[in-house]
Amino acid sequence: MSQWLNDAVFYEIYPQSFYDSNGDGIGDIPGITAKLDYIRSLGCNALWLNPCFLSPFGDAGYDVADYCQVAPRYGTNEDLTALFEAAHTRGMHVLLDLVPGHTSVEHRWFKESCKAAQNPYSGRYIWSDNVWDDVARYEGIAGSLRGISERDGSVAVNFFSMQPALNYGFATVTAPWQCAVDSPQALATRQAMKDVMAFWLDRGCDGFRVDMAGSLVKNDPGQEQTIRLWQDMRAYLDEKYPHAVLVSEWGEADKSLRAGFHMDFLLHFGPSHYMDLFRCEHPYFSREGKGDIHAFVKAYRKNYELTNGKGLICPISGNHDMPRMRHWLDPEEMKIAFAFLLSMPGAPFIYYGDEIGMQYLDLPSKEGGYERTGARTPMQWDSGKNAGFSTAEADRLYLPQDPAADAPNAAAQQAQEGSLWREVQKLNGIRHATPALQAQGGIEFVYCQEDAYPLAYLRTAGSQRVLVVLNPAGRETKFLYDGKLGRALYTLNGAPTQAHGVVTVPPASAAFIEVE
Ligand code: NOJ
Repeated sequence: MSQWLNDAVFYEIYPQSFYDSNGDGIGDIPGITAKLDYIRSLGCNALWLNPCFLSPFGDAGYDVADYCQVAPRYGTNEDLTALFEAAHTRGMHVLLDLVPGHTSVEHRWFKESCKAAQNPYSGRYIWSDNVWDDVARYEGIAGSLRGISERDGSVAVNFFSMQPALNYGFATVTAPWQCAVDSPQALATRQAMKDVMAFWLDRGCDGFRVDMAGSLVKNDPGQEQTIRLWQDMRAYLDEKYPHAVLVSEWGEADKSLRAGFHMDFLLHFGPSHYMDLFRCEHPYFSREGKGDIHAFVKAYRKNYELTNGKGLICPISGNHDMPRMRHWLDPEEMKIAFAFLLSMPGAPFIYYGDEIGMQYLDLPSKEGGYERTGARTPMQWDSGKNAGFSTAEADRLYLPQDPAADAPNAAAQQAQEGSLWREVQKLNGIRHATPALQAQGGIEFVYCQEDAYPLAYLRTAGSQRVLVVLNPAGRETKFLYDGKLGRALYTLNGAPTQAHGVVTVPPASAAFIEVE
């Protein structure tokens, strides 16, 4: 695993909404480059960009029409290469979003595969051999398109219906038109995706966030063949691009790290109980103090034990697929949520705008966003026109911005002591200076009871031991701890005190304390 990951704090950018450098109302790549110093000053040293490739944008770019061309609305391939260089100059790294499971219906591969005459792309997607045999009724297929081509057959989709599934074969073949994982067609798709990765790695990208990484091989219930497929991808990268980093949207680290990914996300779906933290009726990090983190910790521990030493589990503040944390927590509560995110093992990911507590807005769907749209609004940079996002007229913006008179913005929070932005910056600084808090430091849960506060865990690296004590509840809480509390590396709203082994924790507080 690349050593830089141990101290990486990622910043996720939805390119549409980050910074518009040319006044057309939509964010772009030169805009990201222009804001690298901002990201660095927050203490983030790596980026993940959502897809920025040619696309009809039926799913915000997750419907790729050409993997090797930047969408004109974002700039050019040269702009992207310049971003990689500018990031590297600052000691930062950039991951692109690889969407290997499906393309847009506008991809040239798909158009070729729709032709009746055999051609090199006839096997690139999953087609039945007659239109009346609906692929959607077969195991492991999400849906289908029918009646859209001169070719006789129905074709599998992977997500929305305009996202046809690429053909990596079936783990168990049950119909004559299905390919095995080692068939020439399935292997050709695999090679094509290796070529896409090579294309961008040759231009300076540092790796990929991989979309729906567990979805590639069909009829593969335990995902063993999908795991093998990624092991092969990883072996290819290890040989040709050993520095390339892969993080999976999988949500089951025991599988994805075995598959060769360096990191897997804690996600809003899957067995993680991530939603219990910040996004449910009674989030654990709410001041009301009615949450329960017990199930999360139980699932986390299990995964951690299975994966420790093999790769990282990445905690996220949010992403472009879920309402923003601010929908449930106020900025003061979010400070403690960030104290958690930035003191856990793995590489944390901050979703753009969460560092200032941007709101989740109630908006009509845009580019296949549906209820996700409200978490994708333009970044609020300052108090100027369009909150500094763009010089375009407001009605030309990619999405409307938060109309509230007190909508947060980055410039104001950077200038204001005690703001959420300043707290995130402080926490990042402490993490960078404290090996025990970094990705590969160990974790032991010291206090985590059902329906109870606080949460306490020990982070360790070499001889350094740091006790993290988080009490989101608006009441004083206590727990038993035998060790002696030492120097506080960080406190918010007061430090815990200790008497006869009982630690008393102030309301709505967070602390990182050195212990022996
Ligand atoms: C997961 C992505 O994060 C989401 O935004 C997208 O719609 C689906 N995968 C389909 O690619």
